[in-house]
Amino acid sequence: MCGIVAYVGTKQCQNLLLEGLKRLEYRGYDSAGIATLENGRIRVVKTVGRVANLEDKLEEVGGVTGTMGMCHTRWATHGGVTTPNAHPHTDDKSGICLIHNGIIENYASLKTLLEEKGHRFVSQTDTEVLAMLIGELYEGDLEAAVQAALREVTGAYGIVVMCEKEPGVLVAARKGSPLMVGVGDGEHLVASDGSALISHTSRAFALEDYQVVKLTAEGFRTSTIHNVPVTPKVQQLEIELESIELGGYSHFMQKEIFEQPKSLRNTFRGRFVVEEGRVILGGLADHAKDLTKARRVVMLGQGTALHAAMIGRYLMEDLAKVPAVAEFASEFRYRNPIIEEGTVAIAVSQSGETADTLAALSEAQDRGALALGVINVVGSTMARQTDAGVYLRVGPEIGVASTKAFVGQVAVLSMIAMWMGRRRYMGASECGDLLRALEQIPSHIERILATDAQIRRVTEKYVDRENWLFLGRGYNYPTALEGALKLKEISYIHAEGMPAAEMKHGPIALINEGMPAVFIANKGRQYEKVMSNIQEVRARGGHVIAVATEGDESIRNYAEDVLFVPDIPEALSPMTTIVPLQLMAYHAAVLRGHDVDKPRNLAKSVTVE
Ligand code: G6P
Repeated sequence: MCGIVAYVGTKQCQNLLLEGLKRLEYRGYDSAGIATLENGRIRVVKTVGRVANLEDKLEEVGGVTGTMGMCHTRWATHGGVTTPNAHPHTDDKSGICLIHNGIIENYASLKTLLEEKGHRFVSQTDTEVLAMLIGELYEGDLEAAVQAALREVTGAYGIVVMCEKEPGVLVAARKGSPLMVGVGDGEHLVASDGSALISHTSRAFALEDYQVVKLTAEGFRTSTIHNVPVTPKVQQLEIELESIELGGYSHFMQKEIFEQPKSLRNTFRGRFVVEEGRVILGGLADHAKDLTKARRVVMLGQGTALHAAMIGRYLMEDLAKVPAVAEFASEFRYRNPIIEEGTVAIAVSQSGETADTLAALSEAQDRGALALGVINVVGSTMARQTDAGVYLRVGPEIGVASTKAFVGQVAVLSMIAMWMGRRRYMGASECGDLLRALEQIPSHIERILATDAQIRRVTEKYVDRENWLFLGRGYNYPTALEGALKLKEISYIHAEGMPAAEMKHGPIALINEGMPAVFIANKGRQYEKVMSNIQEVRARGGHVIAVATEGDESIRNYAEDVLFVPDIPEALSPMTTIVPLQLMAYHAAVLRGHDVDKPRNLAKSVTVE
């Protein structure tokens, strides 16, 4: 959600904080703020809008100085998007300054208590309450005051705190919202993800829940909120700078769409042997027996990850022959889900930090399920919580609208389904045939990407329409949902995705002259049925854009526009059929003049419920 960067060392920190903050802007971007300790006093500059707005404001006021400081980009939860609600927040009486990611759930009762003690609040945020609470408990030891305050708090937090009375000391703590600590030479940093640290140091550790770290230029001390010392495991960050830079593309989303052949090859590398029909997933090896005997698979996710999970359901049933469901994690966690013996829960997530998916996973684990992760971010909270898993290996995804992670998730789920299938009933040659097709997908995607100019032309024809339908069946019903989501997220066009057959149970009433209806109409078990659905739309004046299999020339008789994808087994087809839909959404957003990488109201990683 929110982006956090903090620094303590010997360098002037304004610019390095801002540089780090820009790398995290995808996490939230409705307001931004910075604070440094300047000549013994805390100096805060904040504003609504982007980091660029903060830079303008800093220029107006002549910048801030200091070798210790913190900055923040916000994605509003409590309190509107206003400058007083932007972080950092301060408690002037004690000289405390704080930035926060997460939600303090008991902030209202704490606020009443603090008001009774004479504190006056200037914002509507839960964060300011925490700043005041730490100030109230401060007795000359910032670390102790933070620990004491956090013992009173319920909810989620990743925080960084400093105090005028303790120059050169930063304290950070975490519960639920991720924080990485960067260990440098004579300097230390804290950030909500490693991409903001990497240009300063590649040595870092993740704070665990209920841990507090006290940082100075020279060293750090890690403890729990009950002041029990802990020894963190400092590790090497494996992020290549080029993977978090635009490198000639106009937007991260565009870069990530075009990166898919390469990222998918990484996903596959060393994970199967086509000739032997063998899938090798080291992350599952320790649980091979339980997975072979699995009686049911429950896949959990939100947003794009849920759409990948829905495709996973078809893959599990078809290739592993195991009953499977895919569910909104947010619904699963508050139901009373029945987890019978032999249930495998699979959390699907790019970030590995989505609050609802994490909670649903815990719920499934508490009820006895074996927990697998299909996750991109190595070492993320979810990855650490699962019993086993397979990383996506698609590299950092910066564009808020997920693209390469989706294709990576479907690819990993297909490999898991084949891995299970091979152990249950599938022969080596059947598996080998599928793997051969899987191996070809990166080059198929390259062919689709080469038709980008045509996809842009088709998008231009319809870009002024306000309502779109996305329709598909079977494996490509979730693809339709994902295509509609992409368009909504970044172009703000109203789009509905649904199973093509469902249309006549209501949504067909929406169809009027010229309404664009995107059909995923590649060759497959239900091809003829999809053709009938296309006719139904055409008969009512809808304009059909078909994603069809190369060589299917006859489809031109039924569709205004056709976008071809290579002929591959239906079970693997969503990895290709989604690509033209990603590009359509991208072009629609650019043509409408929207900020593709920072769509309004969204955040890349949703660490609150
Ligand atoms: C947010 C993002 C979506 C993403 C979803 C799940 O809503 O905007 O793009 O699909 O979270 O995120 P995850 O990191 O769990 O895949």
